[in-house]
Amino acid sequence: MKHTAVAAANIALIKYWGTQDAERVLPANPSLSMTLRHCVSRCTVAPGANGKDEVSWLNEQGELETPPPAFLDGVLQHIERLRAYGGARMSLRVVTTNNFPTGAGIASSASGFAALTIAVCRALGYDADSEALSRLARLSGSGSAARSVLGGYVEWPGLADDPESGARQIAGERHWRLHDLIAVVNTEHKRVSSREGHRRASTSPYFATRLEHLPARHERVRSALLARDFRRLAQAVEEEAIDLHLIAMSATPPTFYWQPATLAVLEAVRRWRDDGLEVCATIDAGPNVHVLRTDAHVAQVRDALDAVTGVNHVIADEVGDGPRFVAEHLF
Ligand code: PMV
Repeated sequence: MKHTAVAAANIALIKYWGTQDAERVLPANPSLSMTLRHCVSRCTVAPGANGKDEVSWLNEQGELETPPPAFLDGVLQHIERLRAYGGARMSLRVVTTNNFPTGAGIASSASGFAALTIAVCRALGYDADSEALSRLARLSGSGSAARSVLGGYVEWPGLADDPESGARQIAGERHWRLHDLIAVVNTEHKRVSSREGHRRASTSPYFATRLEHLPARHERVRSALLARDFRRLAQAVEEEAIDLHLIAMSATPPTFYWQPATLAVLEAVRRWRDDGLEVCATIDAGPNVHVLRTDAHVAQVRDALDAVTGVNHVIADEVGDGPRFVAEHLF
């Protein structure tokens, strides 16, 4: 019996950056994201053959491979954690794959661990709702995976006063069809993991100031989203993106995720906005720029992004409706 879950990446409009408890993956602040539709991880889980878990991934050539040890260990530990959660004993065979570049600031760990959590829980026969799945996905070590178990616009933690709480949806994908045009300037694996970035965050002398300003900025993003007010959203989202990288660059040791083309895209987006186009940019822990846009002139913005020097290609994505099970298995 095989179970295949598909979960999408998400783009944070208010970022999770820094923890209050790294071990338990409790974030320093609530975050708010949009779940995507097309950048997905797919994970197939079936009972294991010889009492041992077996994990592989499908590479870009469509071949099954044993993943690098860092990834493999994280997946094996997470499977163990999920088994312990509900007391199941069954060993598992797991195959996973992404349809977009891994580890380059497009939240591959979020979609990957969300899909893994959902598929494994199903294979083990657990009756877990999205709140439970979100808490479990967070414990993978990728906090942002807690948000990818839901579609639309998502806040995590769902209860502002309980950092352990799972994510909650504040609006469905039909509320507002926002597009995310991802200007890919580099597809290589980032050199400083987000886990290390979270660890360094509190060494920035500006981190405390960030946390002071965040509740108001979070509220601006939430209310602009709920009111479908792009202008207000754009301002708060760009402020937030710069703030995350300000913290990263001023941490000890400093982390520079940006590359020259990152700045070129940011400048182009500002120019277009000054010319009256409704666009804004945000950047997770990598050099690629997510350009947000309402449901008009998307192709025009995409072509313009493609033409910016240093942009390798553009991935056109948009708000999505969350994870699903499919019948096309990976093995
Ligand atoms: O979930 P992690 O540990 O990969 O961290 C995510 C960090 C950011 O992508 C930069 C921000 C976010 O909230 O997704």
